[in-house]
Amino acid sequence: MSQTIKLGVLGSGSGSNMQAILDAIEAGTLDAEIVLVLSDNPDGYILERARKAGIPAEVIDCGGFKTKFPDESQSAVAAQLKAAGVKLVCLAGFMRLVKQPMLDIFPERILNIHPSLLPAYPGLMAWKQAVADGARESGCTVHYVDAGMDTGPIIKQAKVAVIAGDTAETLHARIQLEEHSLYPEVIAAIAAQQ
Ligand code: GAR
Repeated sequence: MSQTIKLGVLGSGSGSNMQAILDAIEAGTLDAEIVLVLSDNPDGYILERARKAGIPAEVIDCGGFKTKFPDESQSAVAAQLKAAGVKLVCLAGFMRLVKQPMLDIFPERILNIHPSLLPAYPGLMAWKQAVADGARESGCTVHYVDAGMDTGPIIKQAKVAVIAGDTAETLHARIQLEEHSLYPEVIAAIAAQQ
């Protein structure tokens, strides 16, 4: 029988994807345990959600940088994740670029969820980019993280139609619904391979 996989989750915002992972664990559709939640945003609701669920949740010190994820911070985060026994790192709305040294410490063990059908619309506010571009379809992608921005190997995608009258916000809300089932599903598939 496979062992319950230990997850570390990194996020910057509301944490609805982290919540979806937790809900799947509670529902018994995902054999995993979230052992640590880290956020670069002290006000990120993801921290509160984690604490409510009794999960250790801490703020990442990014040395005062607004968008950069300095090497020292990445080393510290990797050490925290390792110490907690994390086997798979899940980025869930984490808004800084993860690269070396984290990629070396967790090779092919870092996942990201992105709100578009990559390679279309990488980067920030992909849902806004899709509406501005007049796209007829968008969606979400779970992929392994590499050193690029939203460029790592794609694991699975879910499509969402852009409908007449969609604003960036209404499209993002429907994409998020898909994210909340896609991410736990992909994590469960990876966990089953352990
Ligand atoms: C999600 O839609 C996620 O795909 C996106 O941020 C949102 C976070 O929501 N991530 C990115 O745009 C990464 N480039 P959440 O905090 O409620 O999970």
